[in-house]
Amino acid sequence: MSDQNVNVLERKPVILIIVTLLVILIGSVVTALLPFFMEGMEVKISTVRPYTALELEGRDIYMREGCNNCHTQTVRPLRDEVLRYGEFSKSGEFAYDHPFLWGSKRTGPDLARIGGKYPDSWHVQHMIDPRSIVKESNMPAYAFMATTPLDPSTIQSKMGALRTVGVPYTDEDISAAPGLLTGKTEMDAMVAYLQVLGTMINKAAVETVVDSALVVPDSTTVADSLNSISVSGVK
Ligand code: HEC
Repeated sequence: MSDQNVNVLERKPVILIIVTLLVILIGSVVTALLPFFMEGMEVKISTVRPYTALELEGRDIYMREGCNNCHTQTVRPLRDEVLRYGEFSKSGEFAYDHPFLWGSKRTGPDLARIGGKYPDSWHVQHMIDPRSIVKESNMPAYAFMATTPLDPSTIQSKMGALRTVGVPYTDEDISAAPGLLTGKTEMDAMVAYLQVLGTMINKAAVETVVDSALVVPDSTTVADSLNSISVSGVK
């Protein structure tokens, strides 16, 4: 290879490595970090609200027990998943989840849309003894939850911490929280949490979000816009 074809940088390996890393760094910042500050990247869903004190306790027990090791909480936009679990998950649904519990392993079914699927009594029975409902289930039994009272002493600091990361709890919410937990068991909290999962969006809200995300001009639905596309020569 003649010398004139070799870039100056290629003769200096250390500098080449530094410049390469710099270019990758700039590329990463532009593609990964900038979107955080761009308007419209976070889809807001008006019906999504922060968890109540009882639901929040249930969520903490869910994490403590590692339910997320066997259950995911996100329905992917794939036909078979939507048919089995329902409407696919929207980013805005997780606005107040710190941390999110999407998970990555499905030993048991996805729970993103479990809310309202069964009555409370079903969950209580299933948590006490999963095999009394599904004979071949390998889910552990959590009967102790029914007899373990909640400890209301930590809820205010948890809600305060969540508020510092942007969950809009009011002072009234926080001062009322311990009262809402007195006399309740871990089972009450677990069931309250399961029953709210996936129920904070309503169909109409989802459609508005999807429509505006697609930004289809002058037509109300995607189907309309597809119908209005005319390709010359094709009838
Ligand atoms: C070892 C894995 C495992 C763990 C841990 C586990 N589960 Fe399960 N879960 C399963 C399996 C398998 C099923 C399906 C059979 C059944 O319904 O019992 C299931 C089913 C369920 C269902 C019913 C889902 C449906 O659509 O019918 C709920 C609700 C549930 N689990 C909640 C929980 C909660 C809450 C926890 C934590 C306290 C938990 N699971 C921990 C494996 C697990």
